[in-house]
Amino acid sequence: MSNKVIVNEVGLRDGLQNQPKHVPTEGKLAILDALIAAGVRSVEATSFVSPKAVPQMADAADVFAGLPLDKGVSYEALVPNEKGYERAIGAGAKTVALVLAATDTMNRKNINMTLDEAIGVNIAVIKRAKREGYRARSYISTAVHCPFEGYVAPEVVFDIAAKMADAGADELVVSDTTGGGNPAQVKFLFETLAKRYGADMLSGHFHDTRGMGLVLTWAALECGIRKFDSSIGGLGGCPFAPGASGNLATEDLVFMLNESGFETGIEMDGLRAAIGVAETQTGLKLGGRIMSWYESQARREKAKASSAAAE
Ligand code: COA
Ligand code: ZN
Repeated sequence: MSNKVIVNEVGLRDGLQNQPKHVPTEGKLAILDALIAAGVRSVEATSFVSPKAVPQMADAADVFAGLPLDKGVSYEALVPNEKGYERAIGAGAKTVALVLAATDTMNRKNINMTLDEAIGVNIAVIKRAKREGYRARSYISTAVHCPFEGYVAPEVVFDIAAKMADAGADELVVSDTTGGGNPAQVKFLFETLAKRYGADMLSGHFHDTRGMGLVLTWAALECGIRKFDSSIGGLGGCPFAPGASGNLATEDLVFMLNESGFETGIEMDGLRAAIGVAETQTGLKLGGRIMSWYESQARREKAKASSAAAE
């Protein structure tokens, strides 16, 4: 089984969509440059959603126009409907990521559609993308737990996955939007889906709300999954899912993977620099759990240096 893991950075979309401070297009591109310098090669760059629903993403076309295309990076754009698809393709996207939650209430709150309507829209957009020669990534959000309806029955997820796969989706993203998942349930979902579609067609998207992000990742890794979304500094959260805090931090994910012998192509010093850029742009103190360890190391080094100087 391959040791290579694709870390798909979603900080520019899932991370920034919820930020109260407006981050200008150049700021987003500055974060991206730092991520690319760290070795990131897979990025969800923005979303083509209603600017009334998510003002932070109103500059989606400008972000796409500014993406560096000469660094071997794959970019995707999140789209909620046909209009979003047309805007994304018009801006130069080659991969679209479709939004769909596993419960009725979450779809109503997020995209103003019932579950059945959302399934219909996703199928139509996936079919169109495939007809027109683009890649379609299909999110199944709140796949484990919904902030409005509680735990989600796995059969609901399997049914949605089957419909998206039949429509031609290239990838199914099992997404724990609220961070309410547990490893037993995530393992069951991935084991079953991997048997049906192969592990290469699947990826994981976890939030660290209850500190479960890495453990859920590990459960999925053991099922052969080799692609995960994460967000620099742990930025993020869905604005329409109450209580959903930041995504699993890219630096926590990369640290665990690199230490365990997986190849990510991403190095920690570069990610730490990218966190600094993201902090400047958002005005927030960022950083996953690994950052407190780096900070305590730095404090110890400093204390050692000053006691040596005093001797
Ligand atoms: N991009 C930009 N504008 C869009 C759009 C899109 N993808 N889809 C619809 N619109 C516009 C319509 O043109 C219309 O504009 P008008 O008022 O100027 O005529 C307006 O939005 C309402 O259109 P409608 O189809 O009735 O949409 P809605 O109000 O039911 O909203 C969504 C549906 C999907 C557009 C909206 O809920 C949305 O963008 N949600 C995204 C939420 C999100 O990003 N969540 C986090 C990521 S999972
Ligand atoms: Zn998310």
